[in-house]
Amino acid sequence: MDKIFDTHAHYDDEAFDSDREELLSRFQKAGIAKVVNIGADLRSTESSIELAQQYPFIYAAAGVHPSDAGQLSEETFAWLAEQAKRPKVVAIGEIGLDYYWEKDPEKRENQRYWFRRQIGLAREMGLPIVIHSREAAQDTMDIAKDEKLSEVGGIVHCYAYSVEHAREYIKMGLFLGIGGVVTYKNSRVLKEVVQAVPLDSIVLETDSPYLSPVPNRGKRNSSLNLSYVIDQIAALKNVSREEVIQKTWENAHRAYRMEG
Ligand code: NI
Repeated sequence: MDKIFDTHAHYDDEAFDSDREELLSRFQKAGIAKVVNIGADLRSTESSIELAQQYPFIYAAAGVHPSDAGQLSEETFAWLAEQAKRPKVVAIGEIGLDYYWEKDPEKRENQRYWFRRQIGLAREMGLPIVIHSREAAQDTMDIAKDEKLSEVGGIVHCYAYSVEHAREYIKMGLFLGIGGVVTYKNSRVLKEVVQAVPLDSIVLETDSPYLSPVPNRGKRNSSLNLSYVIDQIAALKNVSREEVIQKTWENAHRAYRMEG
């Protein structure tokens, strides 16, 4: 069977506390062969690495989400840098800017500061980054250029911006993370993005437990739902399911610089 790569999930989330082991045990049979569990704050960075130690098919990303940038100080940043050296950590993330949840200009400035510092950490460690960016299109693009992300690499997770910006990120060698949102009726621009960019620049993601695709929208998400995302991408690009699975598998390995 074709192997599917979920580049972005949060299986350490309490939404999975009741049945985590049972759920993850079903992945292999469903073709879910690799998952990167993404850190979003200090605690989930640690629990992502623990999950990666526990399950052969799980890898980890270490990073602090913009909404939790307040957790970062020189001391906690040094701790994060140590975590990034641990086995099976394949990226720094998720990091970036979230102006949807943060309106305070000073705190937005703090987000930009720690975004840049974590990009610097990725550069130092030779790791790619996983970007979270919401309602911060221009500032994210400006930092991407200023920090020369073409030299760092990575994924723009849950890509939600224009076709023009998508092309610019791809020119920098970044990948676009596409998940459940692409199946939503109101995601017209994202569907255009998927049609406009080469399949070579797309990776699959769930953001589990969030962003379940149609027909499971609103329910807890898991990698088992990727099938709906694959179908939607295949339809938009007029290619087979198998081609979507195969290409995104290869792309994810390039994005995270992992061996196939
Ligand atoms: Ni996430």
